[in-house]
Amino acid sequence: MRILVTGGAGYIGSHTSVELLNENYDVVVLDNLSNSCEEALNRVKNITGKSLEFYKADILNKQDIHDIFSRHKIDAVIHFAGLKAVGESVGIPLKYFHNNITGTLNLLEVMDDFNVKNIVFSSSATVYGDPASLPIKEDFPLSATNPYGRTKLMIEEILQDLYVSDNRWNIALLRYFNPVGAHESGQIGEDPEGIPNNLVPYISKVAVGLLDKVNVFGNDYDTSDGTGVRDYIHVKDLAIGHIKTLPKLFTKPGVVIYNLGTGQGYSVLEMIKGFEKTSGKEISYKIADRRPGDIAACFADPLKAKKELNWQAVKTLDDMCKDTWRWQKNNPDGYQK
Ligand code: NAD
Ligand code: UD1
Repeated sequence: MRILVTGGAGYIGSHTSVELLNENYDVVVLDNLSNSCEEALNRVKNITGKSLEFYKADILNKQDIHDIFSRHKIDAVIHFAGLKAVGESVGIPLKYFHNNITGTLNLLEVMDDFNVKNIVFSSSATVYGDPASLPIKEDFPLSATNPYGRTKLMIEEILQDLYVSDNRWNIALLRYFNPVGAHESGQIGEDPEGIPNNLVPYISKVAVGLLDKVNVFGNDYDTSDGTGVRDYIHVKDLAIGHIKTLPKLFTKPGVVIYNLGTGQGYSVLEMIKGFEKTSGKEISYKIADRRPGDIAACFADPLKAKKELNWQAVKTLDDMCKDTWRWQKNNPDGYQK
């Protein structure tokens, strides 16, 4: 079986490529390296002792995608390629709509041309907006509060319409909660450009001394300690979630939707404490204003994926902190792209 991984040089894509190779899938990666670098793929090969095909290509260029499908018989696509910074998407929405939506339309058109109708799509818990209750189940109402989230919601809808038009399509919409951590080898991990927007990369840069202190965005939420609560999931668990989804896709299920989360929420302060414990470093922090658009708490009901995919997250908070810290310590400048 040969899987095309769009965005395969990125954070989740590189970890998923490792697990695909470990499971003896053939892997073809398409990535324009706009938010990643080829070194990540060298390390994927290093970790697995296996090779993969890499194309520096853009999903905005239909011919690029077409060429790859002409060269390789693809059985399914795992579609990670996309822009993902929420704040940036508010400032440059057209870029986000163009890249994420036009890019996905190009991909789907080429897949259709080559009669490849199996796709796993990277969606996000952001499609639940501010949920009315917790934990979040897959059938909760959907909404978007920013252009990034809207691209996820729109692509989910496009894929559902596509299935209605042609029920030979098999589509898995995977809604990720908060991916963190790194491969246990310390060779691949999250490598954000500039100052991180997300909590765990920020904490790890404070721990390694590259940043001064964590700004805790609000301590007056209706949560156990007043700080925001999220469902952090180890990126390896998340990657394995994709591996468990593929056999399901090959049973021709139509459209399936799964939360990929642990079901357990941790607050910002709990994450800081967890990281202090595993790194042995003191993490300075200060309470700052709430970040506009943030919600108090968000965590998954992951039981549907457990029941139907036989998948559940197994890594602990300690694993998440330990693996993030190993990656950060071994690679203080990331991949040095
Ligand atoms: P990432 O930025 O590390 O990976 C995305 C990859 O896509 C990058 O390597 C980038 O170079 C590539 N890419 C972007 N636009 C492209 C284009 N036009 N053509 C070809 N390649 C392109 O992000 P990630 O964290 O690995 O996320 C992967 C997917 O999962 C994204 O779609 C993201 O929206 C989604 N997601 C991520 C999170 C998260 O917290 N990381 C949460 C929910 C959903
Ligand atoms: C963010 C995105 C979400 C996306 C997800 C993917 C926003 C508003 N939301 O989710 O759409 O799907 O990333 O990873 O950007 N925090 C701090 N200080 C920091 C950074 C974060 O206190 O420097 C807090 C936040 O207020 C939140 C928690 O930490 O309570 C997690 O934040 P973050 O890692 O940015 O993830 P989300 O906001 O959940």
